[in-house]
Amino acid sequence: MTHQRTISGIQPTGNLHLGNYLGAIRRWVQMQHEGECLFFLADLHAITVHNEPATLTNNIREMAAALVACGIDPDKAVLFRQRDVPAHAELCWLLNGTARIGWLNRMTQFKEKSGKNREGASIGLYAYPVLQAADVLLYQTTHVPVGEDQKQHLELARDIATKFNTDFGVELFTLPEPVIGGPAARVMSLRDGTAKMSKSDPSDMSRINLTDDAETIMSKVRKAKTDPEPLPDTVEGLEGRPEARNLVGIYAAMTDATPADVLAQFGGQGFGAFKPALGELLASKLGPIAERLRELKANPAELDAILAKGAEKARTLAAPTLAAAYKAMGL
Ligand code: ADP
Ligand code: NA
Repeated sequence: MTHQRTISGIQPTGNLHLGNYLGAIRRWVQMQHEGECLFFLADLHAITVHNEPATLTNNIREMAAALVACGIDPDKAVLFRQRDVPAHAELCWLLNGTARIGWLNRMTQFKEKSGKNREGASIGLYAYPVLQAADVLLYQTTHVPVGEDQKQHLELARDIATKFNTDFGVELFTLPEPVIGGPAARVMSLRDGTAKMSKSDPSDMSRINLTDDAETIMSKVRKAKTDPEPLPDTVEGLEGRPEARNLVGIYAAMTDATPADVLAQFGGQGFGAFKPALGELLASKLGPIAERLRELKANPAELDAILAKGAEKARTLAAPTLAAAYKAMGL
C-alpha cells in the first residue's frame, strides 16, 4: 500500500469563533495525529472574489495564528500559506491545458457562488476547482477530507489526473480518495437557534469568539436564548427546541461525547444548572487557545517562522511532481 498523505486547505477569515473551531479547525487537530498531513491557508483561492488587501493580510495571519493556537503542531503537520509555494499556481496552469470547459461547466458550486451575475464572475472563481486539483495532485496526496459540497471538486481532480496521465503516457499523478468525515458540527447562534453562529452576525452576544475571556464566555452563555423547560432525558426531546439542541450539541462536541451522553448527565435539570456548566467547560477549553492567540499576535516573528518552515517543507515535497509534470509535457 502506498504511503498515506492527507491535504486540506482553509480560506483565511478573521474574527474566528466557536463555529469555526468545532466545524473546521478541530478536525485538522484530530487528523494530524492520524497520519501525514499537509494543511494550508488557501490565500490564492481567497482572491477569486474581491478582498480588501489589508483585510486579507490580517485574516491570513489571524487564521494561521488560530490554527496554531487551536493545536496544529507545526512539527507534526506541514502548515503553510499557499502563496508561499508557487508550485500550486504553476501546476494549476499546466492542468488548465488538461481540464475541459465542459467539466467546469458542471460544477454546481460555481453556479451557486456566481449567482445570477455569472458573466460578471471572475475567471478565478470559475477555474477554482483546477487550482484545488493542483493543490491535491502536487503532493501525490492519497486522501482528501471533503464535505458534501466538495465531493464534485475532488471527482474533477481525479478526472484531471487520469486525463493527464493518459494524454502524456505517464503514471504521474496519484488519484486521491475522498475521506467523508462525519457530519461537521454545526454551531448555531446563541441568540437564535435557527441561525448559524457567524462572524457576520451584528450581535457579538450571538457567538463565542476564540479571543473571548472566561468572564465574557460565562456571560454570553448565561444570556443565551433558551426556552423555559428543563432539559429532556433523550435526544428526541430536543425536537422543536433549537436553542436547547444547540447548547447540548456544543457541550457534547467540546467533550467528545454525544448529545445522548450529555442528556444522560443533565436531563431533567434546568438551564440554571446547565448554562454555568457549559460556560465553565467552554472557558476552560478555550482559555488556553485565547492565551496562545495573544502570544502569537504579540510575537509576529514566531508565526512568521512557523509559516516559513512549513513553506520550505511543502516546496521540497512539491518540487519533484512539478518537475515531472513539466517534463511529461515536453517543457
Ligand atoms: P463565518 O460563517 O463566520 O463567516 P466562514 O464562512 O469564514 O465563517 O467559515 C470558515 C470555516 O468555518 C468553514 O469551514 C465553515 O464551514 C466553518 N464554520 C463557520 N461557521 C460555522 C458554524 N456556525 N458551525 C460550524 N462550522 C462553521
Ligand atoms: Na461565511
